[in-house]
Amino acid sequence: MARIEGFRVKNFRALRDVTLGKLWNLQKVDALTAMTVVIGKNGVGKSSLFDAFGFLADCLRSGVEEACDLRGRGGFQRLRSQGQEGAIEIEVYYKEDGDARPITYELAVNADTAGRPYVQRERLRQRRKGQKRGRPFSFLILNDGKGVAWRNSGLGHQFRENEGPQEVSQLIAAIQSGSAAEEGSQTEVVELEDRRKLAIATLGSLKQHPRISAFRRFIEGWYLSYFTPDAARSMPLAGPQKHLNMHGDNLGNVVQFMQREHPDKFDAILSRIAARIPGIGRIDTEKTADGRLLLRFNDQGFRDPFYSQQMSDGTLKVFAYLLLLEDPAPPPLLCVEEPENGLYHKLLDALAQEFRGHATGKKGGSQIFITTHQPYFVDALSPKEVWILSKDGNGFCSVRRASDDSTVANMVAEGLPLGGLWYSDYLDAR
Ligand SMILES: Nc1ncnc2c1ncn2[C@@H]1O[C@H](COP(=O)(O)OP(=O)(O)OP(=O)(O)O)[C@@H](O)[C@H]1O
Ligand SMILES: [Mg+2]
Repeated sequence: MARIEGFRVKNFRALRDVTLGKLWNLQKVDALTAMTVVIGKNGVGKSSLFDAFGFLADCLRSGVEEACDLRGRGGFQRLRSQGQEGAIEIEVYYKEDGDARPITYELAVNADTAGRPYVQRERLRQRRKGQKRGRPFSFLILNDGKGVAWRNSGLGHQFRENEGPQEVSQLIAAIQSGSAAEEGSQTEVVELEDRRKLAIATLGSLKQHPRISAFRRFIEGWYLSYFTPDAARSMPLAGPQKHLNMHGDNLGNVVQFMQREHPDKFDAILSRIAARIPGIGRIDTEKTADGRLLLRFNDQGFRDPFYSQQMSDGTLKVFAYLLLLEDPAPPPLLCVEEPENGLYHKLLDALAQEFRGHATGKKGGSQIFITTHQPYFVDALSPKEVWILSKDGNGFCSVRRASDDSTVANMVAEGLPLGGLWYSDYLDAR
């Protein structure tokens, strides 16, 4: 399964320039772990980081103009860090699978003179086989909608001596000066009709660009959880569905699917939920006369079942998380904001273990990104998994990895729980 080893966000709300993990030009730090947890006080930028993932996914799906307005983002001017003139930039450093050479994707979104957002720069690059140092070679590069893509940017592609980045920069210079750009035998001139759309959306749907397509599929597969218990109480039309949607309002459909296609996994979920929440026995669905689905919880103490409308918020949430983690085809990246909300504090340690077990599992689970306020959740984490966001005097955020603080790392090595250290102000006292 693909893994993000690091990412950088610039000029996005309070995140003027924040890097987590490894980048192509930042190789001496450790890559992100399979589960990454961001903590910090109110207003330090946790939701902004979470939304940076959502913004990139929305840019791919809907184009940058719409992405700036979606999910209450309020448009480009509100989204860009106040007082900054440059573009909003996002860089993702990722690997397709364990042995693959890492790929860097860079996106810069800016506004034109009329204030309309557009894609200013986009680039995908990867080191050549055997290349350990130096700049990776670009296999897709666009400035202001014009640029170059490598033909057959397939796996194992070898660049010819004279087809290094110099040829790319000459081509781009030619395109931008309006003179005819000559395509090389392995390069293809690209010009997008709509500067609000990402090139990876357009070229990523073409078979001749497998690396671009793989990256497009990777982002398309991201799952950002906007789960609300009330959404899970809605009554969807019957019909099995493979994946839980972002709000969780198809919980019943996923139960139908799991019961039918993966009864063993579903039974395992039931016994896990029974171990965590008192009284819960069987969970199943009932179809109403008008074809809607009722989610039915059988409480061991009562003769008649309860329906999701009557179930507690925490029960619905734990159930939804367990279903997500048992998805037979999990998303490459799973982002959850404050999973602790509404859950009993003694469940949080187990929940953190569930998330980690999934992320590090042999079957190749999702990489997980979590924000939290809860020391009990953090108690179950190792310092490498935890990033602390804080705000500097100018109102912008900076981020540190808990393991980079030797005092913290030593205290955890001696057996002190990380959440306790956080509570005692060792992590973000300032
Ligand atoms: N365009 C912007 N430029 C600079 N700062 C901004 C911008 N937009 C929002 N902010 C600031 O960013 C802060 C971070 O908000 P965010 O929602 O990411 O914090 P959070 O860590 O999730 O907080 P909480 O724990 O309360 O949920 C806001 O409080 C606001 O002050
Ligand atoms: Mg928040």
